[in-house]
Amino acid sequence: MPEKRVTNDDLAKIMDTSDEWIRSRTGIGERRITEEKTTANLAAGAARKALDDSGMEACEIELILVATSTPEYYFPNTACEVQAAIGAENAAAFDLSAACSGFIFALNTAHAFLQSGMYRNALVIGADVMSKVVDWKDRSTCVLFGDGAGAVVIRSEDSEKEGIRQGIMGSEGKGGEVLTCRARSNANFLTGKEPDTDYLYMNGQEVFKFAVKKVPECITRLLEETKTEKEEITYFLLHQANYRIIEAAAKRLKLPIEKFPMNIEHYGNTSGASIPILLDEMNRRGELKRGDKLVLAGFGAGLTWGAMLLTW
Ligand code: UT7
Repeated sequence: MPEKRVTNDDLAKIMDTSDEWIRSRTGIGERRITEEKTTANLAAGAARKALDDSGMEACEIELILVATSTPEYYFPNTACEVQAAIGAENAAAFDLSAACSGFIFALNTAHAFLQSGMYRNALVIGADVMSKVVDWKDRSTCVLFGDGAGAVVIRSEDSEKEGIRQGIMGSEGKGGEVLTCRARSNANFLTGKEPDTDYLYMNGQEVFKFAVKKVPECITRLLEETKTEKEEITYFLLHQANYRIIEAAAKRLKLPIEKFPMNIEHYGNTSGASIPILLDEMNRRGELKRGDKLVLAGFGAGLTWGAMLLTW
């Protein structure tokens, strides 16, 4: 995480908002904002910690996937920047863009590569610097987001009992206009247009409706497909966008909210980074026990959504 904490009260000094409004609507109390570090810097920091935990050397890594929608460059991709920063010279490295569902899409993709036998391990990272794409004059969106990165190392092992069991992913491009961040339009000598960039745009209420419907639906489908009872799951780690979305999902699934850990109060919505950051915090606090069944679930721009069942 970037070190700089920005509280709701800090924001209230520069825009017409309040701690009360932000907390009651979203559960967010503060977020981290990076001043110097790029998406790749944060991603590489998380990658180093994940490698330390895994006991693997960077040069052993065969695949690096970075889920991000806020890269520093169109090219090279962020994963290549990470590869260079950590010295993982034997890895193939590429980015994957699925906004707040990005980490689930990347983990699922890496899992498929491992299952196919093409690679034996992968470093999967979710990293976003949302502070550079939000409009700091739009109080309805800028207060929601934060910067950060999280990473995991996965590797192939013959174990029926542990590891990633199954992932599912879905997309609905025709609903995509409710949450967008434009890159560049066709600016060239034929169109006569100047290159432009745009800020993040969100229709918050439509995204809210989509999330509270889709997340329980996709978790239910995942549990059905894997013949798992919801009571068997120790924790559901949902993308941290809004505590009210998470509460609504718990309610629809008829599950106690205690099964849905949250850290949104401290980091806001860190997009593709939120799920691995939460996973890491719980792991470091010793809250995850070997054999625990976990469901990870993300949702976001695209529209996209996905969930994954794993045994810790
Ligand atoms: O990863 C997915 C990312 N997206 C999401 O998770 C977003 C999902 N949506 C939401 O979380 C909610 O829709 C929001 C938190 C974004 C907004 O909550 P809401 O209850 O839907 O509020 P609203 O947009 O209907 O706005 C209510 C009022 C408006 O004032 P009026 O028109 O009622 O006078 C806004 O102008 O709140 C005002 N408002 C604010 N007031 C203080 C909007 N932003 C702020 C603000 N501070 N930051």
